[in-house]
Amino acid sequence: MTMPASFEDTPIAAVRAYWNSRPCNIRHSTKPVGTREYYDEVEARKYFVEPHIPRFAEFDRWNGKKVLEIGCGIGTDTITFARAGAQVTAVDLTEQSLEVARQRAKVFGLEDRIRFIQADAERLSEAVPVEPYDLVYSFGVIHHTPDPNRVLDEIRKYVTPQSTVKIMVYNRWSWKVFWILLVYGKGQFWKLDRLVADYSEAQTGCPVTYSCSRTEGRRWFENHGFRVTDVMVDHIFPYVIAEYVQYRYKVVWYFRWMPKTLFRALERAFGWHLCLTAKLR
Ligand SMILES: C[S@@+](CC[C@H](N)C(=O)[O-])C[C@H]1O[C@@H](n2cnc3c(N)ncnc32)[C@H](O)[C@@H]1O
Repeated sequence: MTMPASFEDTPIAAVRAYWNSRPCNIRHSTKPVGTREYYDEVEARKYFVEPHIPRFAEFDRWNGKKVLEIGCGIGTDTITFARAGAQVTAVDLTEQSLEVARQRAKVFGLEDRIRFIQADAERLSEAVPVEPYDLVYSFGVIHHTPDPNRVLDEIRKYVTPQSTVKIMVYNRWSWKVFWILLVYGKGQFWKLDRLVADYSEAQTGCPVTYSCSRTEGRRWFENHGFRVTDVMVDHIFPYVIAEYVQYRYKVVWYFRWMPKTLFRALERAFGWHLCLTAKLR
C-alpha cells in the first residue's frame, strides 16, 4: 500500500468520528432505519449497484463455516453470510454501524448466527478471541485504517493453512482515481493521496483512504506471509449522482452509448475495487 505519512499519523479517533457521523450505505433506503423494509431496500440497492460482491464473497460457499468479517458496517454482507448458513463474527470500529447491524440480525432472526464485537482492526486480538476461521473477509475497510499493515498482522492470528482471506481495497489505477484527479484535483497529481481520501466516499473528507495497484496489493500480502490466489478488479459507478441520490438509476451519457461488453472490459481493467483472495504461504 502507498503509505503517505499524513495517513499513518491520523488518529484512529478521527476515523471513528468520520464513520460514526455517517455509517456506510445508511442512506441506501428512505424507509425508517431498523425496519425490515429498510434492510431489504439497502440490500437490494447494494447488490444492484455492486453485483460483483456476491461473486467475490461466494456467500453460499461458507455454509456451516466460521467467518470473521472485519469492518461489517451496517451488516449487509454479514446478514448474507449468516443467511447462507455461516457462523459469523462481525467487527466494526463504530458503535453507530454496529447498532444498525445488530438490529438487522434481530429483525431477520439471525442473532444466534452472528456475534458482533466493537473493535479496532489494528488491535483485533485485544477484543476478539483468537481462534481459527474458515474465512476472514473484509470489504472496503482496511484502506481506511491508518496502519493497514497492522491489520494483516492481526489477521494472521485467525487463519490456518486451510483458511481463506478475502479483502477488497481500492485500486490505484482506476477510472475513479483518474476522475477524482481530473475533476476535483484539476490535475494536481502531487496531492493525489489527499484528493482520493477526500472524494472516495459518499461523504467528503474521509480521513484515511489508501489505494494500491494490483502489484502493490500482491506484494503487500506476500510481505505479511500470505500468497495471493486470485485477483479480481471490478466496479465502475456508471450513474448520474444527482439522480442516484434520488434513487433513480440513470447512466451517464458516455457509458450509456458504450457497448456493454466494452464497459465490462473497462470495469475489469480499471475498476475501483481490487478484490484479493489469499491463503497463508
Ligand atoms: C466503507 S465502510 C464498509 C462497510 C462494509 N464492509 C460494507 O461493505 O458495507 C468502512 C467500514 O470500516 C470501518 N472501519 C474503518 N476502520 C476500521 C478499523 N480500524 N477497525 C474496524 N473497522 C474499521 C468503518 O467503521 C466502516 O464501517
